[in-house]
Amino acid sequence: MNKNFYITTPIYYPSAKPHMGHAYSSIIADFFARAKKIQGFNVFFLTGTDEHGLKIQRAAEKKGMEPKKFCDEISVTFKDLSKTLNLTNNDFIRTTEKRHFKSVQNLWNILEKKNEIYLSKYSGWYSVSDEAFYSDDEIETIDSLKKSKSSGSLVEWVEEESYFFKLSKWQKPLLKFYKDNPKFILPESRKNEVISFVSSGLKDLSVSRKSFSWGINVPSNNEHVIYVWLDALTNYLSALNYPDTNNDLYKNFWPASLHLIGKDILRFHAIYWPAFLLAADIPLPERIYGHGWILSGEEKMSKSKGNILDPIEIIKKYGLDPLRYYLIKEVSFGNDGNISQKKLENCINSDLANNYGNLCQRVIAFNEKNLNLQIPDKINFKDIDIKILNDFNLNYQNLLKYLDNQDINSYINYIVERLFASNKYFNDEEPWKKKDDIIRLNTIMYVSLELIRKITILLYPIIPETSLKVLKIFKISEKKINLESIKNNNFLELGQKINKLNILFEKIVSND
Ligand code: MSP
Repeated sequence: MNKNFYITTPIYYPSAKPHMGHAYSSIIADFFARAKKIQGFNVFFLTGTDEHGLKIQRAAEKKGMEPKKFCDEISVTFKDLSKTLNLTNNDFIRTTEKRHFKSVQNLWNILEKKNEIYLSKYSGWYSVSDEAFYSDDEIETIDSLKKSKSSGSLVEWVEEESYFFKLSKWQKPLLKFYKDNPKFILPESRKNEVISFVSSGLKDLSVSRKSFSWGINVPSNNEHVIYVWLDALTNYLSALNYPDTNNDLYKNFWPASLHLIGKDILRFHAIYWPAFLLAADIPLPERIYGHGWILSGEEKMSKSKGNILDPIEIIKKYGLDPLRYYLIKEVSFGNDGNISQKKLENCINSDLANNYGNLCQRVIAFNEKNLNLQIPDKINFKDIDIKILNDFNLNYQNLLKYLDNQDINSYINYIVERLFASNKYFNDEEPWKKKDDIIRLNTIMYVSLELIRKITILLYPIIPETSLKVLKIFKISEKKINLESIKNNNFLELGQKINKLNILFEKIVSND
């Protein structure tokens, strides 16, 4: 079995500082990276910034800055955000780096050599905001402004000499590839969208621009810069030192296991990217998952709409793990989701403070009072104990399946259900009434501690900082976390000392 796992986030446009939508893509990718790590995978997790193209050039001009200097300033805020979000990324790539130029120009040369690219003239609509070409039927006129129907962004008319990639010729091979690899695009609804788009016919794609210069030159013609999406998508290869296909990074991690993206950039990843790779004879990634949007009210949160929520502000106010938990649990994965401070506060109170926090606190406090912070030394499981402990064992394969299918909703539902069951177990078994049956009291305590350990391991990809705090009471360090150990009902060593636990989540008292 291949124990290497390569996961990527989209690389972000440093046209303005990061917002919650960007934080969302990154947090979800980090969830999968951590989940794979605790299954013993060797993980390579990549994120970065997408710095070329007209969108960035114009944003820099607006500030009266050189594009490179402009990007340097904003890219740093994305890099800082990856630290603030506690991401486990192994690399942070910038498309203005030398290693990336080399990789993109190499890919271009291969495509040109293979006769996949030709020079002609583009005339049609272009959205600078999306960096995308649109056909007439993808455009609508609103208040005498021409806009893209799908994104609502303004389009402008472009007429200039351009190189074209022979995308049309890849229609059939792409459809065959989707058919042979039914999980290449997830979720299912997005796959259908892509298949119907490709089935309706593909036109050759303009892959260079002549009217501005902020980009990577076409190697054979420096009057042209390479289309920013061909440039950007190649980042996934540049970070593995492509074109050197003999180095360990490339050998271990290409093809990528999972490109995690937002649904707005599906066409680029699920059509253009595999077509470029097929044409260049490079293996295709295993999966593209298009997640939904974070909405503000009914609309996508975006800089151009001016409705953004700053992740840094939210983290300052509520902490990182509550935000990670909220985004992972409350935004039904694959669909759009709303974020509001009120909902976040409710989620902190009900799930984190009342459910998980409460379980940990009451069990450890009871232990401190009655067993002096020690794992009991003599126990005797009854059926009820074995039943609740074994549930993790019985569901282990399901959990792996959820993770492999990016079914975060089922994964987290299982955790929440186990939290309720564990709190109920502690209530129903009433250890405080068992002071004259010390073996029973000990056993209830042992089972409760095991339940906390198992649930906390499951929570690690979601709320890593809190999870590590709790695992520390059992002296389990980050390196030792192993998902499979949730199948073990006797992991905790009898008689071992445990550490005290400080309060994990304060309840939020609302002013209204
Ligand atoms: N630079 C391109 C990606 C190139 S990848 C080779 C780009 N950048 S972006 O900054 O506009 O968006 C990056 C990611 O953030 C996309 O996956 C996008 O879907 C995501 N989000 C941006 N706003 C979002 C929300 N409001 N909600 C959720 N994610 C959204 O596209």
